Amino acid sequence: MRVVVLGGAGFLGSHLCGTLLAAGDEVVCIDNLSTGRRTNTTPFLGRPGFEFVHADIAAGPLCVRGAVDAVANLASPASPPDYHRMPLETLAAGSRGTEHALQLAAQHGARFLLASTSEVYGDPDVHPQPEDYWGNVNSVGPRSVYDEAKRYAEAVTMAYRRQFGDDVGIVRIFNTYGPGMRPEDGRVVTSFITQALNGDPLTIYGDGSQTRSFCYVDDLVRGLVAMLTSTETGPLNLGNPVEWTVLELARIVLEVTGSTSPLEFHPLPQDDPTRRRPDIGRARRLLGWQPEISAHEGLRRTVEWFRARPAEVAAAAPSVAGPQVEPRPGARIPSPRRSAPVLS
Ligand SMILES: NC(=O)c1ccc[n+]([C@@H]2O[C@H](COP(=O)([O-])OP(=O)(O)OC[C@H]3O[C@@H](n4cnc5c(N)ncnc54)[C@H](O)[C@@H]3O)[C@@H](O)[C@H]2O)c1
Repeated sequence: MRVVVLGGAGFLGSHLCGTLLAAGDEVVCIDNLSTGRRTNTTPFLGRPGFEFVHADIAAGPLCVRGAVDAVANLASPASPPDYHRMPLETLAAGSRGTEHALQLAAQHGARFLLASTSEVYGDPDVHPQPEDYWGNVNSVGPRSVYDEAKRYAEAVTMAYRRQFGDDVGIVRIFNTYGPGMRPEDGRVVTSFITQALNGDPLTIYGDGSQTRSFCYVDDLVRGLVAMLTSTETGPLNLGNPVEWTVLELARIVLEVTGSTSPLEFHPLPQDDPTRRRPDIGRARRLLGWQPEISAHEGLRRTVEWFRARPAEVAAAAPSVAGPQVEPRPGARIPSPRRSAPVLS
């Protein structure tokens, strides 16, 4: 296959690029490097079958020359500090960006995969969350820029299927972690690991009784590839159904790192979901997919990766800031660029 991976320089995208290349597929990675890192693609540069294009998928129509078999859209800020810092860019990526991605897939008659999120369920009042649960999202809250962007992305993806019969698939990804995350990205697993390795207090929001399920990246990427190569439309939940409280996660991280960092409690941010656990029955049945790597093993591998990067870990400032809801001084509405990335 020749696959266009949008957001391929990010955490999940770069793992997906690596897995596809290892399987003998060709990859065109398009990324604006807003939250991704060029270094994530360094291992692929110069490899036959890999191309990198620096471009914003929201800026204008996308054009890729040559055959394209599949388009995987992972391009969006994903960690809360990132989308609070870039609210309009996040909405643009999920809306205009997803439309451009769908148009690209349609031009090539390619399969389209949308990386949606468990955040479409908001603060769920159904537990665990099956795909036919419609969610409980505050459309004007600080998280809405991400949640609603993804809900729109799902809606426009289904509209392309209904109106034009396009071959599309939607996966709803639950918290995923692993090597390749930015130490300062502000997600709970990276925050705990960097804080534990730096000997800083582990930041717990609320009393730590809120739950999450954490999927190791290799398991998740196996699910993405299974969906990409299937004919299923979804949406399908992809995540690890083992549920942990945030406090339990903190304790496992302390155990795996051998750290004696204390726990430090901070107020719960607005609209923080209290419970999250995927019902993965559909993915099991339709893709034959389920996670295989335990939290202890996944965290061990992740901690090992972070330990090998002491300077980056030391530079990761402890993150205790909540969402920014006041206007940022000097903040400007980003003006769309109209250039279309063209590949030869
Ligand atoms: N990691 C998770 O736990 C998780 C959970 C649910 C959903 N997801 C989804 O998976 C996808 C990847 O997440 P991630 O964890 O790898 O995040 P990430 O921030 O590491 O990667 C996102 C990538 O998209 C790029 N990007 C953002 N906006 C763009 C734009 N307008 N044009 C081009 N590139 C753009 C970024 O530079 C980055 O490389 C996202 O769509 C996210 O919503 C991830």
